[in-house]
Amino acid sequence: MREMENNYPGKILFIKVKEDDGQSFINFLKNKFKNAQIINQKFKILHENDNLLFPIVKNEVLIDHVLELLNQMINFEIISKEAIPNENYKYRTLQEALMGKIPKKYTEIIPKSYDIIGDIVIVEFGKFNQIDNEEFNDYKQTIAKAISSVNKNVKTIYEKKGPIEGKYRLRELAVLYGDDKSETIHKENECIFKLDVKNVYFSPRLVFERHRIVSTRIEEDEIIIDMFAGVGTFSIQIAKNNNVKVYAFDINPNAYEYLKENIEMNNLKGEIFPNNIDVKDLLEPKNQLSQLLYNKANRIIMNLPENSIEYLDVACFLLKDSGGFLHFYQFSEKPNPREKSLKILENGLKSLKWEIESVINSKIVKHYSPKSELVVLDLKIKSKK
Ligand SMILES: C[S@@+](CC[C@H](N)C(=O)[O-])C[C@H]1O[C@@H](n2cnc3c(N)ncnc32)[C@H](O)[C@@H]1O
Repeated sequence: MREMENNYPGKILFIKVKEDDGQSFINFLKNKFKNAQIINQKFKILHENDNLLFPIVKNEVLIDHVLELLNQMINFEIISKEAIPNENYKYRTLQEALMGKIPKKYTEIIPKSYDIIGDIVIVEFGKFNQIDNEEFNDYKQTIAKAISSVNKNVKTIYEKKGPIEGKYRLRELAVLYGDDKSETIHKENECIFKLDVKNVYFSPRLVFERHRIVSTRIEEDEIIIDMFAGVGTFSIQIAKNNNVKVYAFDINPNAYEYLKENIEMNNLKGEIFPNNIDVKDLLEPKNQLSQLLYNKANRIIMNLPENSIEYLDVACFLLKDSGGFLHFYQFSEKPNPREKSLKILENGLKSLKWEIESVINSKIVKHYSPKSELVVLDLKIKSKK
């Protein structure tokens, strides 16, 4: 590890009391200052000869008050001394855990957020992503260690190495901390999902969006199509408490295997029928499933934001002619991403001789890139034929 600019933790102030007075000192703090932080728990209490040295927080007003009252009780001394970090201290934030460990000129490398999926963390270093030199790799390791100290249940930390890409929507990950073990179990909205972060798509950031969809009014016996189901995040949360039939599709065989396991693990009220096919295959007249589902669906979820529009024909083939609900996700350019997304969808429907009966909701789900947003449109659509 490289030498830091600011020799952390360096010298800090301690209250030095006789060992025999140690318990009285602790009782005094408890009684007079209740929950106020006086002892700095990030550092160890030191034992020197027959003295105890308590590291104290940097809060002059508070400490002055403590010393004033303590004066009337026991003998003590204030000393400045090299502090020793307390390995057992549970840091509350990454910034706190990293204090003094990354030179000021590189603080930009500290990630503002990271994803926790089961016992795995996935972290991104933005513009530092591609830099592969010893110095930055050391700092990345330090950050990974700090993340693990803030999240005690984390076993593995991966660094994002590239964008989400390919038809399975995966990204390259490199291990930074712990074993390279990419399978985990993630809990979300009272459901559990087994998944492999390297081999299937999963984003914990969509938790509120999935909760929103699950909380919309879903009728008894609805037939629902989850066109791009992944490991079943939408399908399972919907079928958990609704008496519905969900047909869930994913082209990725790994996602399909996890989807089947997750259906078994979640004790569902409704039924899910998992399928490992390209949903375009449903347009094949000889496909048995397409014969079964043609003109039958009450609701369709299309969560493939980069090119969901290319599958609108499949949605119109499956939805009831008389009308059904569509939850349509799309990356859309700023400014006015919702309006742009709606226009694209309107034109797409028009060319298929379908139309929008009502726009129930349109919303930015999350920021996607400097230029675009992830938008969701909740619509009722029907055939014009
Ligand atoms: C953005 S992910 C969404 C997964 C899931 N809905 C979620 O929220 O976790 C899109 C998924 O669609 C699948 N996919 C892509 N093209 C497909 C196609 N033509 N037919 C079926 N699945 C497809 C990918 O394998 C991927 O799992």
